[in-house]
Amino acid sequence: MLKVLKKTGIAAGIALAIVALQMGSVQAAEMDKPVASRQAVMKLYSYYMGQLGGMAKGKMPYDAKKAQGAATSLQAMANLDTSGMWLPGSGNDKLGTQTRAKPEIWSTYPEVSKKSKALKMALVDFVKVAGTGLDGLRSGIGPVGKACGACHKPFRAEKK
Ligand code: HEC
Repeated sequence: MLKVLKKTGIAAGIALAIVALQMGSVQAAEMDKPVASRQAVMKLYSYYMGQLGGMAKGKMPYDAKKAQGAATSLQAMANLDTSGMWLPGSGNDKLGTQTRAKPEIWSTYPEVSKKSKALKMALVDFVKVAGTGLDGLRSGIGPVGKACGACHKPFRAEKK
């Protein structure tokens, strides 16, 4: 009798563990889209910054229309509502290498939103100068790049 109980107990334990595992993976799967979407936003940031940086450094000819377009696009993206992409529990402590988002994003909240506000502020100034000439572009791009870095330093993990 005792043996049977032990066996069923173990079986129940294993069954529970399987259910818990499945729930874990369901939750992880629910994070897939939000995580991929926020990474896509970041990739677009870096696409436009690459163009602007290339012009600022003289690696690409300055083109007022292109520079203005890139700056305006950056600003539009910084104003997207991305709140649903940053779900609690979607940091690299839970999702491992799927994300480089550090758990400090949530544990020190609202610090991270100060960083995104700072980027928006830098972009308000930048859109005014990016299309005015190479000097204008060069004068405004620094604060934008700094605003990206100021958030990455505390909140983005190193590449693995
Ligand atoms: C408010 C914080 C914040 C700001 C501002 C910010 N980033 Fe990020 N960035 C992150 C975090 C967090 C990650 C990691 C996201 C993840 O892996 O889930 C990231 C990831 C990235 C990545 C890697 C994306 C990938 O392929 O996984 C790039 C590139 C990037 N950022 C570029 C930029 C650029 C360029 C700017 C400025 C125009 C910027 N970021 C502004 C927080 C920020």
